[in-house]
Amino acid sequence: VVQQLRHEDVLKPSYLPREGPSTRAFGRWPFVMPSGSLLSMIHIHSLLKSLIWIGFPMSLLISGCCRLPSHSTESAAPLNRVTAIMADDIHSHASPREVRTTHLDFDWSVDFERRVLSGSVEYQLHRTDLSKPLRLDIAHLNITRIEIGAGRAFEPVAINIVKDDVISGDALVVDLLADTNTVRIEYETTAEGTGFQWLEPVQTASGKHPFMFSQAQSIHARTMFPCQDSPGIRVTWTARIKVKGGLVAVMSGDRQSSTEDGVFQYVMNNAVPPYLIALAAGELEYKSLGKRTGVWAAPSVVEKAAYEFADTEQMIQTVESLYGPYRWGVFEILVLPPSFPFGGMENPTLTFATPTILAGDRSLVSLVAHELAHSWSGNLVTNATWRDFWLNEGFTVYLERRIMEALFGVERYRMEAMLGLDELVEEMHDLAPIDEVLHVDLAGRDPDEGFTNVPYEKGAAFLTLLEHTFGRERFDAFLRGYFDAHAFQSMTTAAFRVWLEAHLFAQDPQKAKMIDVDQWIEKPGLPEDCPRAVSDAFNAVDKQLEQWRTGSLTSSRLATSAWTTHEWLHFLRGLKDDRGAGDLSTLDAALHLSKSQNSEITCAWLQAAIEHDYSAADSRLSEFLTVQGRRKFLKPLYRALFEKGGARRQQALDIYDKARPLYHAISQGTLDTILGR
Ligand code: BES
Ligand code: ZN
Repeated sequence: VVQQLRHEDVLKPSYLPREGPSTRAFGRWPFVMPSGSLLSMIHIHSLLKSLIWIGFPMSLLISGCCRLPSHSTESAAPLNRVTAIMADDIHSHASPREVRTTHLDFDWSVDFERRVLSGSVEYQLHRTDLSKPLRLDIAHLNITRIEIGAGRAFEPVAINIVKDDVISGDALVVDLLADTNTVRIEYETTAEGTGFQWLEPVQTASGKHPFMFSQAQSIHARTMFPCQDSPGIRVTWTARIKVKGGLVAVMSGDRQSSTEDGVFQYVMNNAVPPYLIALAAGELEYKSLGKRTGVWAAPSVVEKAAYEFADTEQMIQTVESLYGPYRWGVFEILVLPPSFPFGGMENPTLTFATPTILAGDRSLVSLVAHELAHSWSGNLVTNATWRDFWLNEGFTVYLERRIMEALFGVERYRMEAMLGLDELVEEMHDLAPIDEVLHVDLAGRDPDEGFTNVPYEKGAAFLTLLEHTFGRERFDAFLRGYFDAHAFQSMTTAAFRVWLEAHLFAQDPQKAKMIDVDQWIEKPGLPEDCPRAVSDAFNAVDKQLEQWRTGSLTSSRLATSAWTTHEWLHFLRGLKDDRGAGDLSTLDAALHLSKSQNSEITCAWLQAAIEHDYSAADSRLSEFLTVQGRRKFLKPLYRALFEKGGARRQQALDIYDKARPLYHAISQGTLDTILGR
């Protein structure tokens, strides 16, 4: 019966509603079931030409009767729904309307000596047009063998690579036979690939062992393995990873027990886009934080991390109470070595995080709230293309702030919202108008270029405006419904707008008239009705800064002992922008700012120091630029030095020459541009 259903499904024209694999067994052939359409969604279809197919899961109705005999490792994961919206993705060579990968089995070896990942991937396919080849994205991969198969019988085929461009990489085109349902590719990664960083022992906490980690968002998964590297295409996967030397391999997925030494196995039963597949290997220890939470870190860091992230379970419960169940099983945090180029990356079940948030006082844990929130906005409901990135990040910042407010109170919310919006406003002075648009035009551009505060802060501000206009209760219900209805699917900006009209605006047309959606989503700039938080704590800080600047308050009389990290940050940013600030040496002497071990405070202080030519902070500056590689910190500091010109510019280049080899390719790329290297 399963085979028949599949055959008919393949022959249906692609514009008919269809359904992909709903539940699958570990390492087994996925099966496809027919589907019906959801009546209430049909009008969306007619409204939006960009939406090619809209399916509705019948899996709940029929999965019970067609479930294949299950393998012992199959978990009771929630059922997956197929991607409902197939948007055109200019950053991928895949043609998912013809052939779609549905499940991947990785078999990898981590080779620290050669700095390559080698092995194979086996692909299960869902074919809609039997005359068409499988098209995969690749970049900087060494493909050594391709086999196609029907069931378990494989035969080798030609390796056909169609060269394309530096942004999107190349297309690997695999011709298929009528009965092909599996493809197997053997390959190796190369040093040019941007998806991994390989670290020498000196770049790790103990200094004893090498380390490697991947970072696939936005389009780096294609440098890790051949894949349909578009966020609108989801796969389940399994992985078997070999690592030598007693090191540990971790992935985003459920860990399986393994009897072989140096072999690690993971399973992801929720379908995810390739940009959420992640791997790290090195000297790692695990510490549990609760039933479903825990931390992975270098042995000397794990205790500190456990202290810092103690509130994680409460954060999960907060989101669950607002927006529905956490659907990924466990939530663990991997603390990476300091060269990790981002603050955090929401790899499902295993958030990757920079060690620079380990402030010792839990003051920077909004990053954990943020990555956790992606378990709803991003990993559950996923931007269909990188143009729709604001749907991931704007929603996530909104959720992040709601978590922080629920756990730590409204003043914390206000301070974080203000710091976030201030950063956006400052950045917008330098942005081209096209980069100020939420629904950003990325034609001819690398999606990573869209990485500004705009999708984050302008996106969150738009949702806050909706909350204020329609009321929190109604807006929360709207969001919950949005996540439930689109779970494990992708979302375009256009489809979101239709959903917003139907499920929020239609309920109160009077209020809806007050919102200019087009202005917010499609136009540059920050609209007049942008909500702005006001923090009493920050007002008090402003007052002190003003008194200090005018001389009525000396450095040693500033009342800072009760300041939170946030108040410090607000003070230091005000100080940087304060033209009349003068000499910073009395401040440093009284407040020991150059000695701060809080990375955010250090970065803000060093920016003020550069601005006001306080050169006594120079040694701290070059140290800070060398001991960590988080792009968010590197970028403003190098840029400030560079823009000062003269000796400051030379100083930037000197530090960079030494530090560049320690940075991740993503940070290197950004800084090469800023520094003209
Ligand atoms: N998913 C992003 C990181 C990302 C985005 C990597 C685009 C590559 C391309 C992650 O959730 C994120 O937003 N991280 C922020 C921290 C957050 C608290 C704003 C970061 O790393 O700065
Ligand atoms: Zn994010």
